[in-house]
Amino acid sequence: MKVLVIGSGGREHALVWKLRQSSRVSKVYCAPGNGGIADDAECLPADIKSVDSLVALANNIRPDLTVIGPELPLMLGVVDEFTRRGLHVFGPTQAAAQLESSKSFAKEFLQRHHIPTAPFAICDSMEDVLEALPHFHMPLVLKADGLAAGKGVVICNAKEELVSTAAEMLSGKMLGAAGSRVVLEECLQGDELSFLVVSDGERVAPLVAAQDHKRIGDGDTGPNTGGMGAYSARTIVDEQMSQWLVQHIARPVVAGMKAESAEYKGILYCGLMMTARGPMVLEFNCRFGDPETQPILMRLESDLVEALEASIEGRISDGVFRWSPDASVCVVMSSQGYPSTFEVGKKIVGLQEAGKMEGVKVFHAGTSKRDGAYFTAGGRVLGVTAQAAGLSSAVLRAYEAVDKISFEGAHYRRDIAARALQKV
Ligand code: AMP
Ligand code: GLY
Repeated sequence: MKVLVIGSGGREHALVWKLRQSSRVSKVYCAPGNGGIADDAECLPADIKSVDSLVALANNIRPDLTVIGPELPLMLGVVDEFTRRGLHVFGPTQAAAQLESSKSFAKEFLQRHHIPTAPFAICDSMEDVLEALPHFHMPLVLKADGLAAGKGVVICNAKEELVSTAAEMLSGKMLGAAGSRVVLEECLQGDELSFLVVSDGERVAPLVAAQDHKRIGDGDTGPNTGGMGAYSARTIVDEQMSQWLVQHIARPVVAGMKAESAEYKGILYCGLMMTARGPMVLEFNCRFGDPETQPILMRLESDLVEALEASIEGRISDGVFRWSPDASVCVVMSSQGYPSTFEVGKKIVGLQEAGKMEGVKVFHAGTSKRDGAYFTAGGRVLGVTAQAAGLSSAVLRAYEAVDKISFEGAHYRRDIAARALQKV
């Protein structure tokens, strides 16, 4: 079968890599892809902001299965359009994707269905903000309602900061239309967890859990990014907790969406805070996480195509995934200056040497390839991912591989999974 992956990041490279391993897959396309994906798939140009462009591409190559990486095409209704044309596509419809595309929709949905989340207020004006403020204690989390590529959440320690940031968001200065409505939310304390399940509209099957590292600097300092590294290990979530999360969070979400006539198929990514009062939902994503997908798929032993097709065809069962008991770690190497401005076009060296290491796969994100050499082409450049029997060995292996790679201005966190290692 022919498979098409939409997107150009490390997540998409991991999807391409895993899909290629399926005995049922004869050809993988990726649109638009990146320098490293081009070694594993045929890359085709596409504008992921345009449904028409993606439909035209699919009409051209007639894939037997399409997997959408990023949120934007989902939010624009690519799944609806592909399905209408009889194309097999994995992911939620535009209506179901509102769980990610509108934070106010997600919060009100959680409230309606009694799923644990932080107390909140939805505000359309500064009057609403000032009215809500006395009901909360500082620090307070301020969130833009719409998609903001990781820049829409600000934790405010003082009221003045909250008021001025809310004013900037609501006026459209900070994030355009995405900030024309905001959510105020109680600030939760605890460990964050990325708990992903695959849904067929009714049933769900959990993937192995992962933990992301969102801040740019060691010790969780500096601004938020798309994610600077992630790991997955048996020790993060035991079987009992995984079942609890399915029963009290993932399944009620899927049942609630069905009851509200917005059947949810695809990956449901539950961003959770493990608080002293129990797990609470911080956010939903309607897609695979980046960089969580890199370590998660490294642990997948069964055929990914089977799971994606089971979701589309409404036949998810408990046995849809088989996982390695190993741990896996992804360290993101980024361009100097990211998540603000950065330069591109720096030559990357050492990729071959790192890629040859046992249990290591270097996933490309912002890279391009020219005359057989690779160059930086984005903020997050590489996701150096390693697998080993234990978490500490996987961490050592990932950093050993990172040490072999270099480009001008390369930045990476040195403490991916460090907190988890301190605990064991
Ligand atoms: P979100 O886009 O909603 O996941 O928010 C991005 C990041 O902001 C999360 O991964 C958390 O680190 C942080 N965050 C969001 N909501 C809260 C909250 N209620 N309490 C504490 N931190 C939060
Ligand atoms: N790593 C967080 C995300 O994919 O949204």
